[in-house]
Amino acid sequence: MNKIKWGIIGTGWISTMFATALSSIENTEMAAVASRDLGRAKDFAEKFKIKKAYGSYEELVKDPDVDVVYIGTPHSEHKDNAAMSIQNGKAVLCEKPITLNQKETQYLISLAKEHKVFLMEAMWTKFLPATRKVKSWLKDKRIGEVQHYKVSFGYYTKFDINSRLFNPDIAGGALLDVGIYPITYVTHMMEKLPDQIISSAVIGKSNVDEQNVIIFKYKEGILADLSSSVAVNTGKDAVIVGDKGKIVVPNFWMAETAMLYDAENNLVESFSEPFAVNGYVYEAEEVNRCLREGKLESEVVPLKDTLDIMKIMDEIRADWGLTYPQERG
Ligand SMILES: NC(=O)c1ccc[n+]([C@@H]2O[C@H](COP(=O)([O-])OP(=O)(O)OC[C@H]3O[C@@H](n4cnc5c(N)ncnc54)[C@H](OP(=O)(O)O)[C@@H]3O)[C@@H](O)[C@H]2O)c1
Repeated sequence: MNKIKWGIIGTGWISTMFATALSSIENTEMAAVASRDLGRAKDFAEKFKIKKAYGSYEELVKDPDVDVVYIGTPHSEHKDNAAMSIQNGKAVLCEKPITLNQKETQYLISLAKEHKVFLMEAMWTKFLPATRKVKSWLKDKRIGEVQHYKVSFGYYTKFDINSRLFNPDIAGGALLDVGIYPITYVTHMMEKLPDQIISSAVIGKSNVDEQNVIIFKYKEGILADLSSSVAVNTGKDAVIVGDKGKIVVPNFWMAETAMLYDAENNLVESFSEPFAVNGYVYEAEEVNRCLREGKLESEVVPLKDTLDIMKIMDEIRADWGLTYPQERG
């Protein structure tokens, strides 16, 4: 098996988690890390025993020792960071959401096709064993016909205009940060897009959505009740209700467990597979596998699905009148 050589862009929270994952995978090397600040890159490199540290992202994407670039920067930076990587012939795993909107995503997809390089959004939830188990329970009709989804991802954070969660200049707000998870989860389970979307949001003092509710309606008579927040602890579980039972997934976006109940609320089956290191190992292994097989996209997180989710989020934001500074004239 050939060694896959990774470069990491950004040295914040998620890059630290992802580097922890990479350091546990065989035939995988962290060849370089880049920060806007050389000192931060050096500290990160020392912590994870990475050979090269760069004080600019440009230097990393030009490094011939890097096969694939992991992008762990704020949402607003993804398009430019990914484009620069692709234009230098690097495969890309980019944090969610892959860009601010559908137009930017389409641009990256076209660029990746033109340069014949792999591109994937880091939608790690889809690869988790618990997510795969839930999908198999649904396929096997273990809860009968699905009637309803209730999926929330909301947590309290003290308002701070400088935080990436509230700062509009780096595309803060609940929808792009965490709302993408309930939307992706239900779409992944349904394997189709909703026929109708209704939503509402509370736009806070920094002009980003602090909390939102979204309803998906499907013509078969299925409803999905989705919500997300960066300011209110709305919960973090997924509940899928069918005519013969229900599935409960605690902390669905990072799930290690899932429970199956019958229609009388008796526990029928319980799934548990704790992460050996963390939940980011699975998406990293998928990228390694795709690169070794010469694939340009993952079958689990295909580019069409990524584009569809961005389109949904564009439509929802349009209903709220929420745009980001980068999107205005
Ligand atoms: N998959 C997940 O579970 C998960 C969890 C959390 C976050 N995320 C995603 O990961 C991304 C980063 O989130 P995070 O929580 O890791 O953020 P963070 O801790 O603030 O780190 C972001 C890093 O990006 C770099 N950066 C580049 N331009 C920046 C700018 N204009 N302002 C601030 N930082 C900038 C900085 O690294 P340097 O200064 O070193 O260049 C910074 O440390 C987001 O897209 C987020 O949605 C994913």
